[in-house]
Amino acid sequence: MFFKPISAAAVALAASGLVAAQTSIKCNPLYMTCPADPAFGSEGVNCDFTKGACSAFQALEGTTPEYNGNGAVFEIQREFEAPTMATAKYIFFGRIDIVLQAAPGRGIVTSVVLQSDDLDEIDWEWVGSDNAQAQSNYFSKGNTSTYDRGAYHPVGNPTGSFHTYTIEWTSKVVNWMIDGNSVRTLTPEQANGGATYPQTPMQIKLGTWVAGGTASAPGTAQWAGGYTDFTAAPFIAYYKSISIVDYASSDAPSSSGVDEYVYGDRSGSSQSIQSH
Ligand SMILES: *[C@@H]1O[C@H](CO)[C@@H](O)[C@H](O)[C@H]1NC(C)=O
Repeated sequence: MFFKPISAAAVALAASGLVAAQTSIKCNPLYMTCPADPAFGSEGVNCDFTKGACSAFQALEGTTPEYNGNGAVFEIQREFEAPTMATAKYIFFGRIDIVLQAAPGRGIVTSVVLQSDDLDEIDWEWVGSDNAQAQSNYFSKGNTSTYDRGAYHPVGNPTGSFHTYTIEWTSKVVNWMIDGNSVRTLTPEQANGGATYPQTPMQIKLGTWVAGGTASAPGTAQWAGGYTDFTAAPFIAYYKSISIVDYASSDAPSSSGVDEYVYGDRSGSSQSIQSH
């Protein structure tokens, strides 16, 4: 099977002319000393987007969020649109549960991405032309050179109905779940003995983008089901709700009052992360 590794950062770069602003590659702690990452800490977040905006999320430049009874409406009409929202705060291990209906359409990708400042990543992705599967993926330190981390999981009518998609991430396992059923686990041992296991504080990013645009690389468009037919637009994803729990340096919900995460050195290892 053909697995196309797409990191969210690479993705937004490829997807949009607005991109520089959208992805604004931040200070990478592998190469320099960076400001601390604000932590969600013990304050859990439950965003019900059917009621409107949620203060935990910020719309990135170029995105004008809309909300209706289905939740946050991520609509693509034209090639260079890539509506994106991200949390300002970070989790360092934790769990997210999101209820969404992915956007239909060839070449249209709906995504939920956990991403750290040094580009570790844990993803859910839906390709609009595939109305029978969701995809899981992960990245370590932005390395997209191999094709062996993505996986496909059956799900009924993901572009026409809502499902609950979960990522639980601890120091011992990443567990991807659909409607409460585990469909994939990843342990450090399965990720080069832990070396390429996602292990640094992550923001949560929600985004819909065009992988089948005229400027898209052929492999990217192929992965996404082909080049997009914009006469069939608009393509709409609905993000209904999301709950976010920060495990705050532990492997389970924690009541400790963590305010921020700091990279103690340039190793990018979980052991180097300090919680304050
Ligand atoms: C990226 O991953 C590949 C495969 O594991 C590895 O051979 C390569 O050295 C990595 N690149 C970097 C820059 O770490």
